[in-house]
Amino acid sequence: MLRVGVVGCGAIGSIICRALDKDIEGAKLVAIHEHHIENIKSLCAELSCKPKLMKISEMVKEVDLVVESASAVAVPQAAIAALENGCDVMIMSVGALVDGQLLENLVNLARKHNCKIYLPSGAVAGIDGIKSAASAPIHSVTLTTTKPPRGLAGAPYVIANKIDLDAFDKPEVIFDGTAIEAVKAFPANVNVAACISLAGIGVDKTRVKIVVDPGSTRNRHEIEVIGDFGRFTTEVENIPFPENPRTSYLAALSAVATLKKIASPLQIGT
Ligand SMILES: NC(=O)c1ccc[n+]([C@@H]2O[C@H](COP(=O)([O-])OP(=O)(O)OC[C@H]3O[C@@H](n4cnc5c(N)ncnc54)[C@H](O)[C@@H]3O)[C@@H](O)[C@H]2O)c1
Repeated sequence: MLRVGVVGCGAIGSIICRALDKDIEGAKLVAIHEHHIENIKSLCAELSCKPKLMKISEMVKEVDLVVESASAVAVPQAAIAALENGCDVMIMSVGALVDGQLLENLVNLARKHNCKIYLPSGAVAGIDGIKSAASAPIHSVTLTTTKPPRGLAGAPYVIANKIDLDAFDKPEVIFDGTAIEAVKAFPANVNVAACISLAGIGVDKTRVKIVVDPGSTRNRHEIEVIGDFGRFTTEVENIPFPENPRTSYLAALSAVATLKKIASPLQIGT
């Protein structure tokens, strides 16, 4: 039985805890670490597995896998402690790994301690295809993210360029650049851009377009990959969480699917 500890129990972490409590054969939730204990009282009361609340330094002595679903800041803290103690780690705040040095350090630690680092696909479809395609030359990867005006409000690029988001009456591209430029210009897109880049051709070669669509109510992510294999496209229209509209429901479901894959003898997909 895979013993799991969850760091951060907000929109995504709560779904993970509930799934571990009921749905995931071969895995059980044994520990939680959360900054705001008062926010998770009702979650803890509802879980029949009764996980212990503990510090990360205690958790890594009790579990086989640490799931980070907290924040980019929590990634080095949780992942380093996990790997140094021989635990596998699953990281939801994938954007933290845009810092290539942190990723390299974590991979070296994982090798040294014979552990694994899992990065779920998150809010997009097509990571499996990008990974397959990357076994031969890839010519281009383009992520086009379309959001309603309110979904882009406050982004550093919008503010710096004094873009009036309410002035658009049809969909328009407001940004076209590399993934590394995009995560600085639109930090809310960081996890999606990071995951696609890490699976494929990296943050300097992956292209990101941001489209403002006054007629849309949902965030849409389209990916186009062209390589020696041919070409594919994917498109996801995401439903946001009511508790945290910045997070898509599919991202939490991808975490649950990754846990099922880790705990299962049958591995489907790339
Ligand atoms: N991979 C993806 O595609 C994807 C998609 C959406 C969100 N995310 C990322 O996943 C993370 C969680 O997202 P969410 O929507 O559940 O966020 P959320 O704000 O709803 O929940 C985060 C929870 O973690 C807790 N927390 C934050 N830092 C902590 C720390 N250092 N130690 C313990 N607890 C801590 C907070 O109190 C909160 O309860 C975020 O970093 C988000 O950017 C990734």
